[in-house]
Amino acid sequence: MKLKMPKFNLNPVALILILLISSNHSFAQSFLKKHPSINPYSYEVVKEKAFDHAAVTSAHPLASMVGAAMMQDGGNAFDAAIATQFSLAVVFPGAGNIGGGGFMLARKANGELIGIDYREAAPKMANRDMYLDEKGNAIPGKSRDGSLASGIPGSVAGMISTHAYAKLPLAVLIEPAIEFAEFGYVITDKEAKGLNSEKSNFLKNSSSPSAFTQKEWKAGDTLFQPELAATLKRIQKSGLAGFYEGPTAEMIVKEMEHTAGIITKEDLKNYKPKFRKPLEFDYRGHHIISFAPPSSGGILIAQMMKMIAPFNVEKMGSNTDASVSLMVEAQRRAYADRAEHMGDPDYWKVPTKTLISDQYAADRMKDYQPGIAGNSKTTQAGQVHESEQTTHFSVIDADGNMVAITTTLNDTYGSKTIVAGAGFLLNNEMDDFSVKPGVPNMYGAIGGEANSIQPGKRMLSSMTPTLVTVNNKPYISIGTPGGTTIPNQVYEGLVNIIDYKMTLKEAIDAPRFHHQWIPDMIGVESDFPETTVNALKEKGYTITKRGRFGRMDGVQILKDGKRTAAGDKRGDDSVAGY
Ligand code: GLY
Repeated sequence: MKLKMPKFNLNPVALILILLISSNHSFAQSFLKKHPSINPYSYEVVKEKAFDHAAVTSAHPLASMVGAAMMQDGGNAFDAAIATQFSLAVVFPGAGNIGGGGFMLARKANGELIGIDYREAAPKMANRDMYLDEKGNAIPGKSRDGSLASGIPGSVAGMISTHAYAKLPLAVLIEPAIEFAEFGYVITDKEAKGLNSEKSNFLKNSSSPSAFTQKEWKAGDTLFQPELAATLKRIQKSGLAGFYEGPTAEMIVKEMEHTAGIITKEDLKNYKPKFRKPLEFDYRGHHIISFAPPSSGGILIAQMMKMIAPFNVEKMGSNTDASVSLMVEAQRRAYADRAEHMGDPDYWKVPTKTLISDQYAADRMKDYQPGIAGNSKTTQAGQVHESEQTTHFSVIDADGNMVAITTTLNDTYGSKTIVAGAGFLLNNEMDDFSVKPGVPNMYGAIGGEANSIQPGKRMLSSMTPTLVTVNNKPYISIGTPGGTTIPNQVYEGLVNIIDYKMTLKEAIDAPRFHHQWIPDMIGVESDFPETTVNALKEKGYTITKRGRFGRMDGVQILKDGKRTAAGDKRGDDSVAGY
C-alpha cells in the first residue's frame, strides 16, 4: 500500500520564520539539503520492500528514511538507530520520545550481543504507596496523568550509550531531528486526530500551551516544534549535559510544579542506562535473542515458545481453534508468572534461569488438556486499554549488524505533560509499576512485590525487541508496541514465520489474539476468523473482539542476502533502505 501525503505549500510567513530560525543554526538544513529526496512536506508510506544492502522499518516514513540515509552516508545500524530514535521524537510524538525510555538490543556482525536498558527509573522521592489514598486505595489516574506519573527519562542517555557502537558523530545523527522540528513536517491524518483528541489533556497537564495545542489539526498541516529543536540543539552541542543538566534539566524540574511531579535535578544528573545480558533460547532451528528484565518480554516469549515446542503447530494451521487454544494456554501460564516473579532484577531476584528452562515449560504444560479452556481462577479485571503507545523500529545494515529498539512514553503522548520551553512530552511510565498488589494498571495487568515502587527502581516492561539468527547468521530484527500485548504479538509473529512459513509482511499483518492470564479472556482483532472464534467459544473460552493492536515492524535477511523490510498495515509504519 502506498499513501501519498498531501503536498505542503509554504506560506510566506512560515518562510520568513524558517529563514530567521535557520540563520541561528550552524548546521542550517545540512541534512535535508544533502538529502533532497527526504522531503518533510511530501513523503510516502512504503509498506514492504527488499533492499540490496541495508534497511530500516519504523513507525514513520521520515524516520525510516533518515535511518537509511545515515547508513548510506557511511554509518552502521547503530547510527541508523540513533538517528531514527531522535527523528521519531519529532515526527511521531505519541511514542517517539526523548522524555521516555526503552530498550536497545543489538547483535553485531561478529556475533557480539548488546542490550542497553534505558528504561525510566522511579525518582528518589518515589515511594511504594505514592498513588494510594489514606485508606490505601489506588487513586484513579494518579499514576497516569501529569508529571507525578513520570519516571526519570532514559532515552537520551540510552542513545548516547548506543553511540559507542556507531561510526558517525552524534551531532550528525541528531541533525535530521532538529531540522524536522525547526522547519516543520507535514502531519498524517492519524497524527492530526491524535493531537486533537488530547488537546484538553495537554493543556490541563502542562504549565503552558505548546506547539501541539496551537490549533485544530488536519492531515497535511505542518507542525513546527521550535522549543523541541532548541532542546535537541542543546543535546547536539553538549551531549548528556544538554539534557540531564543545564537549561533542559531546569525546565523539566520547573514543569514538576504544575502537577506535583517529583523529578529533581539530582535524579536527572544521576540517571544511568544499564547494560543487560540479552536472553537467548532456541526454537525449531532458530536462535532467538530478546530483552531480559526489567522487561518481561524476553522471558515471556521464551516460556511460551518452549511450552508449544513439543506440539506440531504447523499442522494445526495458523489461527485455527487448535493452534490458538494451545498458544493461549501457554500465554495464560507465562503471564501468571509475569505477575508473580518479574520486576527490576536490581531490586528483585527474578528466577530467569528456571522460568525459561525446558523442564519448567514442560511442568507448566502438564495440566494442559487440548480442547478444554483453562481457567485463571479469578474474576475479570476489565478491558485491556487500547492504545498505540510505544514504538518499535528495526535495522539491519550491509555488514549484518542488527538492531531492534522498542521505546515508549507508556500511554499515547505519555503523561500529556509537555515540558514548558523544552517542547517534549514526559512519560507516564510509573503506571507500569504495580501501584498496589492486585490493582490492574492501564493494560489490565496486575503485579505484586516484585514490581512495587522503590526509589531508583525500573518499572516492569513488556517491550520485546527481538533478534533471530539461523546457523549463527543474522536473520530477523523484529518488535512492536502494544503494552502487555507486545510479547504475545512477537510470539505470534515468530510462530507465523517459523511454523507457518509466512513472509515477514504476512506474519506482521496476520490477525492477532491476546491472553494475559487476568482478565481470563482472549482478545482478538476484528478481522480474526469467525469460525475460530465460534470454535473457541464452544471450548469454553470468553472472547472479546477489539480493534487492531500493535504496529509490528521488522527487517529480515532473505536467502539471496537482500534485506526485506516490512511495516505493519495497522499504522503509518514505513520501510526505507538502499
Ligand atoms: N509501557 C509499556 C511497557 O513498557 O511495557
